[in-house]
Amino acid sequence: MILLAIESSCDETAAAVVEDGRHVRSDIVHTQLEEHSLYGGVVPEIASRRHVEMIGAVTRRALEEAGLPLEAVDGVAVTAMPGLIGALLVGLNFAKGLAYAAGKPVIPVHHIRGHIAAAYLAYPELTPPFLALVVSGGHSHIVRVEDYTRFTVVGRTRDDAAGEAFDKAARVMGLRYPGGPAIDRAAREGTPRYPLPRPHIEGAPYDFSFSGLKTAVINLWHNAEQKGETLSVPDLAASFQQAAVGMLVDHTMRAAAELGADKLVLAGGVAANSLLRETLQARCDALGCALYLPPLSLCSDNAAMIGAQGYYEAQALMASHGGVIPPMLDLNARAVCGLERMGIQSM
Ligand code: KG4
Ligand code: ZN
Repeated sequence: MILLAIESSCDETAAAVVEDGRHVRSDIVHTQLEEHSLYGGVVPEIASRRHVEMIGAVTRRALEEAGLPLEAVDGVAVTAMPGLIGALLVGLNFAKGLAYAAGKPVIPVHHIRGHIAAAYLAYPELTPPFLALVVSGGHSHIVRVEDYTRFTVVGRTRDDAAGEAFDKAARVMGLRYPGGPAIDRAAREGTPRYPLPRPHIEGAPYDFSFSGLKTAVINLWHNAEQKGETLSVPDLAASFQQAAVGMLVDHTMRAAAELGADKLVLAGGVAANSLLRETLQARCDALGCALYLPPLSLCSDNAAMIGAQGYYEAQALMASHGGVIPPMLDLNARAVCGLERMGIQSM
């Protein structure tokens, strides 16, 4: 099964062609990063407008690079939830229009399920069940992937997402958006010498809380400013990164040990963090758990991962609808939607 996949949930306009959920025929990403960095974060209205401008050209290039006309694909997979609603609607409506015109089914994909599926592209031998740590600008989840379309969230953030905490901590230190890569780079030159809290949630050992850590960085910075002192940006970046990564790794490895996981997948934009990758590798080696680390290009938002998950969603839809994918022309986008149940009425 060959799927055209479309992703527009945040600030990347992306299209890809993926075969049988595992083989990438083309993968085109247009990022709006430069424009949003002028404002210190993603401006939803600008994101939607850029998607409208770029989506046609990006999709055409994905088909051209795959060497296929639209008629040759078996369906159009598209991120329908969660994300910025205006941004999602651009991709979803474009996908529905294409699918309708070509007489193909449209397959809705949950963005976070897509991030997890990026690992199927990097590791053809990987099959569920496994444990996944999904850390992006909007989500921080520890998930048990029971099967390709069955998920149990075992840990989640109670406040900020990990990427959001990186972005906000970076902003207070005067580093440019997106803060994650900037902190990663700055931390390489620094020593983690500032003490920072690592909050735990009583009775929920796999859950995360990043807002206390973020506030501690902000307070440290402002108190120093008031005293006319300057803090070392590399040292503060290293201190923040050590605390944030420490929490992610400790909670995930505790879940892996207690739930008896023998495979762990790292996914989402924050999965690009070098300290997180190194530390998880060392801890997984010690536990005897196989770690699956997709390349950086598959960690940030892309459409290939949507095509990978779209294939498995299509298989599940066909299995429950007598071998065909229902038309779903009433499909709508959702800004907020749990990972476990996509909650699409037509399904
Ligand atoms: O998955 P993603 O591309 O978009 C969302 O779905 O949110 O994740 C973007 C997030 C941003 O918060 C960015 O700062 C963070 O991933 N990020 C990183 C690194 N690279 C990107 N965080 C820490 N270290 C990095 N190297
Ligand atoms: Zn994402």
